[in-house]
Amino acid sequence: MLFKKLKINGVTLKNRIVVSPMCQYSAKKGCPTDWHFTHLSKLVNSGASMLMIESTAVENNGKISHNDLCLNNDKQEKKFKELKDREIKIGQTLQEKYGDGNIDLETGEFVSN
Ligand SMILES: Cc1cc2nc3c(=O)[nH]c(=O)nc-3n(C[C@H](O)[C@H](O)[C@H](O)COP(=O)(O)O)c2cc1C
Repeated sequence: MLFKKLKINGVTLKNRIVVSPMCQYSAKKGCPTDWHFTHLSKLVNSGASMLMIESTAVENNGKISHNDLCLNNDKQEKKFKELKDREIKIGQTLQEKYGDGNIDLETGEFVSN
């Protein structure tokens, strides 16, 4: 069941494993830092079909710590876009290289090569 596809509206998830949002308290002036790139790249590589980014405030006084992510100016938007593009690129590369691994997505069964 865990390795079966799941369709939600127009999006088909390759399995039912989702990474929860986890605040890293590592943003600088609301922008993602090298830590976010490293942390999320590792999780994109985990095999989970969906990855949620951590709590992101839409204005400074909405943050729950000084080092939270925030998305309300051009500099922050630029860094978020870089982060999103990088993670999508990694995900696409993994998909091209390894496909869906050895799991039959219809049955959820392990398939040996
Ligand atoms: C270190 C840590 C950071 C978290 N940061 C966020 C966050 O930024 N945003 C959010 O919605 N939930 C956050 N959570 C909550 C988790 O996403 C998750 O909902 C919670 O751990 C319950 O997971 P479970 O239902 O699998 O037990 C955080 C949890 C942990 C342990």
